[in-house]
Amino acid sequence: MMSAKIFVDGQWMTPVNGATLDMVAPSTGEKIGTIARGTAEDIDRAVNAARRAFEGPWGQTAAVDRGRLLSKLAQKILEHEDELTALEALDTGKALKLARNDIRAVARYFEFYGGAADKLHGDTIPFLSGYQVMILREPRGVTGHIIPWNYPAQMFGRTLGPALAAGNAAVLKPAEEACLSCIRLTELAAEVGFPDGVINLVPGIGEEAGAALSSHPDIDLISFTGSPEVGVLIQKAAAENHVPCVLELGGKSPQIVFADADHSKAIESIVSALVQNTGQTCSAGSRVLIERSIYDQFMAQLTRRFKQLRAGPHDMDLDCGPLISKVQQERVMGFLDRAKADGIEIAAQGQVDAAASAEGFFVPPTLYRIVPREHELALDEVFGPVLAAIPFDDEADAIRLANGTDFGLIAGVWTDSGARQMRLAKAIRAGQVYINGYGAGGGIELPFGGFKKSGHGREKGFEALREFTVAKTVVFNHG
Ligand code: NAI
Ligand code: MG
Repeated sequence: MMSAKIFVDGQWMTPVNGATLDMVAPSTGEKIGTIARGTAEDIDRAVNAARRAFEGPWGQTAAVDRGRLLSKLAQKILEHEDELTALEALDTGKALKLARNDIRAVARYFEFYGGAADKLHGDTIPFLSGYQVMILREPRGVTGHIIPWNYPAQMFGRTLGPALAAGNAAVLKPAEEACLSCIRLTELAAEVGFPDGVINLVPGIGEEAGAALSSHPDIDLISFTGSPEVGVLIQKAAAENHVPCVLELGGKSPQIVFADADHSKAIESIVSALVQNTGQTCSAGSRVLIERSIYDQFMAQLTRRFKQLRAGPHDMDLDCGPLISKVQQERVMGFLDRAKADGIEIAAQGQVDAAASAEGFFVPPTLYRIVPREHELALDEVFGPVLAAIPFDDEADAIRLANGTDFGLIAGVWTDSGARQMRLAKAIRAGQVYINGYGAGGGIELPFGGFKKSGHGREKGFEALREFTVAKTVVFNHG
């Protein structure tokens, strides 16, 4: 098992105060390891190391060489696919097949950004006679990254891939609930030869290491994925130092089903977009909006499918695993208890497998019938395998409902009408709109991010490279 260390300036070292945190397997509640509990002093060491690296040779490294390092890391990750898969599944409780998918995705992030590093170029602008203007795209400098526990490995690639490809030096604070894969990935990154100080990892808790990173005066950009509440704290802390933030804060993403859609295709996608990672996905499709004329018929089909769902420990490889922690289990059970008290009818519930440990953090996948539009189940992010069904009257009503929450991350639109597909794609305020499909988890090439409380800035694709760079205008007067 990995030691409880932080990785700073190319060295694994004990945190200044020597404190540690125990890691628990969500499938069983058992202790599986110990990590470092870094503090503000450790963050300060990490930021200083990153600054030295950025101002040193890393800042001068050719884009092609940066890209090659990322590509080597992608290859290295694939060589360790089985090991990383087992570690990610144990640490997060997610089913093995999903963990494997995540490990392939983190490799894919480094592959994509490895290839992109030398293809990010600036611009020239026609200006006054006797002048030449060019726009350089420069790295921000030292970037701070705070990530959650739902996809630790994927997040490692999603946030570090573009930051490093663009030439930044990074400090990563993973989540205290699950970060073993991030520790292992950092080891692999060191093995492929990233220079000292380019990647620094400080595990620890949000209020300590996380807060220290977001308030550090020598950070040039913060990239955060997590809750809207902490997103506000991070922005406030960063504002004190005029540091910009890229924030991805979750959603209440709708799947919108019109009468003319291919129902069977829609149902498979709706179920998998909700239960993937046991509903603990920022882009989970947690609302299904159904045209009233097909409501009963569609719900009957969805109900049948939902009843087949099974939850169990990661190594049973079922539809759902446990939630990440007792805290999250209680949070999700709170939604179920309040829905019951409010008289909201359950249409279908899946089973927690009899073999699942009573000490694991399981909840049954649950589908609610006709959730009132103002109810918390229709408006708030549950972050569990809970689906709220809501009927709509017509296209205008569907759009109103789709846009009627504080969030706007992604949306799925199911209809055969081409004109309606286009109208909805334009009318829905979400960072990604899928037509006859739904993209939870996939698409490294595709820009991703939110409107409203879902956050701002864009990750993934080439857009992420833009976020991790800044435009500098250079004006030549050549007479
Ligand atoms: P969180 O927002 O508290 O944690 C996310 C990351 O932020 C972790 O690394 C944590 O250590 C760090 N953090 C926490 N407090 C901080 C602070 N004051 N300053 C700096 N960093 C801090 O999310 P949590 O408590 O794990 O989950 C609560 C809810 O947030 C979930 O039920 C879910 O609704 C939402 N969430 C959304 C995610 C997404 O993918 N958009 C991921 C995780 C949670
Ligand atoms: Mg929290």
